[in-house]
Amino acid sequence: MDALTTISQEHSNMWRLATTLDHVASDMQAGAPLEIAFFEAALDYITQFVDRMHHPKEDDFLFRLLRLRSTEAAEVLDALEADHARGPENLAQLRAKLAAAAQGQLPVAELAVAIKRYTDGLKGHIRTEEKQVLPLARKLLLPQDWAEINQAFRSHSDPVFGDQARAEFRELFHRIASLAPDSVGLGASSVGSLQAPATVQPVLLKVEGLESCYGRIKALKGITLEVRKGETVALVGANGAGKTTFLRAVSGVQAISAGSIHFDGEDISRLRSDKRMRRGICQSPEGRQVFGPLSIEDNLRLGAYTQPKHQVAGDMEKIFTMFPILKEKRALPAGTLSGGQQQMLAIGRALMGRPSLLLLDEPSMGLAPLLVEEVFNVIRTLKSQGMTILLVEQNAFAALAIADRGYVLETGTVTLTGTGEDLIHNEQVRAAYLGM
Ligand SMILES: Nc1ncnc2c1ncn2[C@@H]1O[C@H](COP(=O)(O)OP(=O)(O)O)[C@@H](O)[C@H]1O
Ligand SMILES: [Mg+2]
Repeated sequence: MDALTTISQEHSNMWRLATTLDHVASDMQAGAPLEIAFFEAALDYITQFVDRMHHPKEDDFLFRLLRLRSTEAAEVLDALEADHARGPENLAQLRAKLAAAAQGQLPVAELAVAIKRYTDGLKGHIRTEEKQVLPLARKLLLPQDWAEINQAFRSHSDPVFGDQARAEFRELFHRIASLAPDSVGLGASSVGSLQAPATVQPVLLKVEGLESCYGRIKALKGITLEVRKGETVALVGANGAGKTTFLRAVSGVQAISAGSIHFDGEDISRLRSDKRMRRGICQSPEGRQVFGPLSIEDNLRLGAYTQPKHQVAGDMEKIFTMFPILKEKRALPAGTLSGGQQQMLAIGRALMGRPSLLLLDEPSMGLAPLLVEEVFNVIRTLKSQGMTILLVEQNAFAALAIADRGYVLETGTVTLTGTGEDLIHNEQVRAAYLGM
């Protein structure tokens, strides 16, 4: 992607956010309560985005080279750079007002006015860049300038810093989307409200000392793990660590030799897999395993075989709303779908069982980067709707970035556990799984 495309995309994201802030501020002026968590998340996003990515890139490359090529640009660039420099302070003032309003020391309506003043400034800034600076840049910059700028933007998104930064922004953006009042929706399908903190939720899945063998080889050597209602828990680890074996043991298709599995308070250690499915443990298996010759509809129906007939058609429509491509191709054999589409189908099939615990085994495996992102977006959406998810991934970074908590598995043993964020920042994890 070239630098201009990146900048324009970032502008349109900022514009959407500014419009969203305006919208919520108007609601507040009309008497709606203060959405403190939403505003904090939005301001966090702007802080990280502005300070760490967008403005420095513009100042150091685009603006600097444009100044070299044109004196006519100087005035507008001066103004924009002054805006950039003032940005953090403006934001700090807004945060102070937000804190004051949260403590009842500032009327909410006054905060709303300050927010609108801020977003007006932001929108004016973006408009000036789009309408004046970018056209000038297109006209005046030389090919070698563009080579330097594009190079700079590419190196800014190198796999260590760039991807990490983007993952953080996505997480923040997701938080903003989840926290936004229903009336906003950010153009996506409606997202439910954010879960209450996981610690107050009851334990849904409790696994203790679980062991499982293939012949004389012990693949799981005493795994203890729990998932609370509404949590997304990531189980990460290298190939062969035992992730799949663990998920299969939970869903009941893999025998266990020691330990116990409790689900919603009930001991299900010896329960048949179809009975576990009836209780809401639904799995999207490694490698998708869709039935190639069967139609997409029939694949989805298979996922609902434990469900009463009358709800199947309605549930299928919900899956189609989530994955429009599956609706388009509903009558075609599943084997004609691309890898990414088959993954959507595998997840859709699991959802047809109305899971209360969704088990996802390597949903991003073998997919192109863009599709990997799409799969994680889907997981994020499910999470925001309150689904409880146990996610197995070799793609440790992406999985931990969206997980509330994570477990690191090494040759059948849990070696580390913590919040997703702790694990991402853990040196050992970074070295072993994130390639850092
Ligand atoms: N069907 C099987 N028969 C024998 N050994 C197996 C079988 N499936 C997996 N294993 C072994 O069990 C261990 C864990 O495998 P698996 O659960 O598939 O790991 P992961 O999903 O983390 O890649 C590996 O050493 C693997 O070779
Ligand atoms: Mg596996």
